[in-house]
Amino acid sequence: VTMAAQEEATRELLLPDGKIRIVPSMLAADFGDLRSAMKNSGSSWVSIDVMDGHFVPNLSFGVDHVKALRKGSDVYMDAHLMVSDPQLHAPVFADAGADWVTFHIEACKEPQALIAQLKDMGVGVGLAVKPGTPVETILPYLDSIDLALVMTVEPGFGGQSFMADMMPKVTKLRETINKKKLSCWIQVDGGVTLETAVQAAAAGADSLVAGSAVFRAADPAAQTAKIADAAQKAFEKRTS
Ligand code: DX5
Repeated sequence: VTMAAQEEATRELLLPDGKIRIVPSMLAADFGDLRSAMKNSGSSWVSIDVMDGHFVPNLSFGVDHVKALRKGSDVYMDAHLMVSDPQLHAPVFADAGADWVTFHIEACKEPQALIAQLKDMGVGVGLAVKPGTPVETILPYLDSIDLALVMTVEPGFGGQSFMADMMPKVTKLRETINKKKLSCWIQVDGGVTLETAVQAAAAGADSLVAGSAVFRAADPAAQTAKIADAAQKAFEKRTS
């Protein structure tokens, strides 16, 4: 385990605390200046969308981006692995200094083993479901993961429209997590804007990944704050 991972391992993982977090997706940031984009995003938690050109058609970030962004920044980095072989890649990103490593249930035959391996490395573990995958596929793992990710677009590209019919998955997760008193973020990712963030928070999501909505704004930090405020109000008003 490298120094970075050891330092990482000692860092407290951010736990759900009833406060909504907007998680800017670096996929929508200026690839020529990622460090400043991360610094000026207005959030202390960003998402690094890793795409292998196989599980999804696009290619995006590699482990060296995480290593580079780790240097000199204590922003929480959440590596969302849209890769066909998470058993190969997940430990590498954990070792490189990612705070959470999220992989897709569709790409992993033995999720329990990989979850255990990542927890031993001291990182938060996330499980993601694509729009076409029932949320029931990840319910059995809820008590051993730190984050459940409901994709509200078909993974692979930013700038798509929010799939509101994914909200029942979020509500199901919220009810299950509340009932079992689990500490697990419910993250939504894809097409999150000021309007759709309110829908996601009202359904019970407390971590909202937003790419275009943040980085296409004139002032990303102000937009992040605006979305967080609107989502927090909806989150506190929710019934489930
Ligand atoms: C899509 C990525 C999303 C995307 C979000 O596969 O996982 O994080 O970058 O971008 P927007 O917010 O623009 O939909």
